[in-house]
Amino acid sequence: MTRLAVPDLCLVVLVGATGSGKSSFARRHFLPTQTVSSDTCRGVVSDDEGSQEATKDAFDLVHYIVGKRLAAGRLTVVDATNVKPEDRRHLVEVAREHDVLPVAIVLDVPPEVCAERNSTRPDRAHMPAHVVPRHVRELRRGLRSLAREGFRTVHHLRGAAEIEAAEIALEP
Ligand code: GTP
Ligand code: MG
Repeated sequence: MTRLAVPDLCLVVLVGATGSGKSSFARRHFLPTQTVSSDTCRGVVSDDEGSQEATKDAFDLVHYIVGKRLAAGRLTVVDATNVKPEDRRHLVEVAREHDVLPVAIVLDVPPEVCAERNSTRPDRAHMPAHVVPRHVRELRRGLRSLAREGFRTVHHLRGAAEIEAAEIALEP
């Protein structure tokens, strides 16, 4: 078991390619109400959780909900790929505005594993083949900059076994 120390009030930013297991990880370790999912927000604004056209409005909603939760002093988890520094920047800003620590949990899963998992998902079966390798490249390129971006804690989980063995330890 790997114990991941997480402050009991913080903004957890999950970072991982499509198929890396972010939504499963969030379901296993956090309450549904603690998790703000970009796909759920795409659904809220467009009736289609897979709608790429709804990206801007979906993320406006993600950021809005995150701000409201942090203002209320609630631990919040962002379930989105968050593989690019510009995807993470606004989340770090919202955390700072509320004096809350941003924590990154990186699900660093080999592209073949993500692609294999996606191929058996009814909701992601038609993912173009180039998407997963691009996500993994972007994720790995950005790993070193996470601390500079403002993430004081970075938990980097390498591979499925390490992710499955992880437990969250909330700390006051
Ligand atoms: P996107 O929402 O597309 O970005 O993907 P995601 O990162 O949220 O992945 P998700 O949690 O939906 O998992 C994708 C698939 O992998 C699902 O079919 C899961 O059941 C499976 N999966 C997730 N985590 C694990 C894991 O730790 N082990 C195994 N064997 N399968 C997993
Ligand atoms: Mg997901």
